Amino acid sequence: MKTLSPLLLAAGLSLVEPWAQAQLSGSVGPTTSRAAKAAKKVCNIMNYGGVASATTDNSAAITAAWNACKSGGEVYIPSGNYGLSTWVTLSGGTGVSINLEGVIYRITSATAGGHMIAISSTSDFEFYSGNSKGAMQGYGYLLNASDPRLVRLTKVTNFSFHDIALVDAAQFHIVMDTCSNGEVYNTIIRGGSLGGLDGVDIWGSNVWIHDIEVTNKDECITVKSPASNILIENIFCNWSGGSALGSLGANTDISNIYYRNVYSQNCNQMYMIKSWGGSGTVRNVKLENFWGHTNAYTLNLNAYWTSMTQAAGNGISYQNITFSGWKGTNSNGAQRGSVQVLCPSGVPCTGITVKDVNIWTESGSTEKEICQNAYGSGTCLKSGSGGTYTTTVTRTTASNYAIQTMPGEIKAWGLGTQIPIPAIPTTFFPGLKPISALMAANGGGGSSPTTTTTTTTAKPTTMSATGGGGSGTQSQYGQCGGSGYSGPTACAAPYACSTQNTYYAQCL
Ligand SMILES: *[C@@H]1O[C@H](CO)[C@@H](O)[C@H](O)[C@H]1NC(C)=O
Ligand SMILES: *[C@@H]1O[C@H](CO)[C@@H](O)[C@H](O)[C@H]1NC(C)=O
Ligand SMILES: *[C@@H]1O[C@H](CO)[C@@H](O)[C@H](O)[C@H]1NC(C)=O
Ligand SMILES: *[C@@H]1O[C@H](CO)[C@@H](O)[C@H](O)[C@H]1NC(C)=O
Repeated sequence: MKTLSPLLLAAGLSLVEPWAQAQLSGSVGPTTSRAAKAAKKVCNIMNYGGVASATTDNSAAITAAWNACKSGGEVYIPSGNYGLSTWVTLSGGTGVSINLEGVIYRITSATAGGHMIAISSTSDFEFYSGNSKGAMQGYGYLLNASDPRLVRLTKVTNFSFHDIALVDAAQFHIVMDTCSNGEVYNTIIRGGSLGGLDGVDIWGSNVWIHDIEVTNKDECITVKSPASNILIENIFCNWSGGSALGSLGANTDISNIYYRNVYSQNCNQMYMIKSWGGSGTVRNVKLENFWGHTNAYTLNLNAYWTSMTQAAGNGISYQNITFSGWKGTNSNGAQRGSVQVLCPSGVPCTGITVKDVNIWTESGSTEKEICQNAYGSGTCLKSGSGGTYTTTVTRTTASNYAIQTMPGEIKAWGLGTQIPIPAIPTTFFPGLKPISALMAANGGGGSSPTTTTTTTTAKPTTMSATGGGGSGTQSQYGQCGGSGYSGPTACAAPYACSTQNTYYAQCL
């Protein structure tokens, strides 16, 4: 169990790295394991009218399988191709998982807006791919602005999303709206090179997002208001817009946000905090170990981001924001320098720290750093507080800016080109392995608890219930086979053992 920082924390163990401890406010992920859910019931969409064809609508089958398993069980979408032309809203689940081993395709004649798969008001939930090959293909390249987003989670708590490729949405790829106690990891997002195709957007509390690659031309991993206790790490913004806090408007309420190990190449920015007008607070934010190259903006807190609509208010109060350990190069240091901290004149920023930000330019020989109404320490920042000012520093040298790059960095997907479904990568920051192994590498599967971050030590009985005993016969819905399974393989009459996937067979 490698992934356990928040959990071990909850369990009172001490393998926790202190940063994780500080940033999350409790354990994350579903409260019962995949195995326990699948042991209760498996709702294979093929038993609910599913058709393994990319051009046949499977909405009714997915909805029916959800309804049958949403009070405890696993919705199973086996390997194969499945079309979707009516978008599904799955709500009111408790103790339910969706194992997407196949690929869901937008049927290209279906162009309604909305979300292809929306999950709402659900708890103890896991959306994953047991073979790490599950994907959704939105065929965004054919589309225009009103067409669907791929996935939205609304008011989902105690959840995880992992091992799934989200490909070519016509709009956003995954949005988490008012979600809490979640973990999102081992995911690749590959969209077209266009604004409006956000990768991961999140607002809510206590969510751990790690090991994600995003290609698009808009938000990579972006936190919106209101949000608190969000930990984001090991992120590869591979020809993306870049990550951000924002856009922030009136009554902004953001606190305890920690990003670290974020690699960005050919993005609009390495990180941007953007607002224009607005009110409320952003506090206790730490942006550490950002590496990158060939990005337009680099570190940019901009309270005068006029490409958004001006929000009501004097400006947002930005407090206690630390940028540290930034390395690499940017496209043009004279034009868009490595540090821009532009705070509202009505509400100067306080407690801003810029340290070890070593970025050098790829063209010309200067890096411009601009501070405006910003108080704290480092570069052009003033110490103390209060009052408006603008200071520009022009650097003509840089040190320690060299970075190790990522393998396989190439250019963006154009528009009008079909994007193939990629494999989930095995690194998301130079030299780092994912915090949790991919499901495929683990033997994966709906009954393997190996990588779950969710089974708290408070619930050992749910785990050991899976096998239903070592010998004798298994009862209805009990597990009777699957890789790694060692319990009874015979079913009590009149039930027969039915193989659901490589990892799970059940008495039905
Ligand atoms: C979407 O439609 C608008 C208006 O018809 C058009 O200007 C734009 O180029 C279209 N975009 C794409 C990506 O097809
Ligand atoms: C979420 O999990 C926590 C324990 O981690 C539990 O206290 C809480 O009741 C759960 N919430 C829901 C809605 O199930
Ligand atoms: C500043 O934020 C950090 C987290 O980034 C937190 O640990 C620290 O306590 C905060 N300081 C104050 C004075 O609130
Ligand atoms: C980066 O994105 C490009 C364009 O989508 C892709 O071809 C390339 O394989 C990606 N690199 C990695 C390491 O995934």
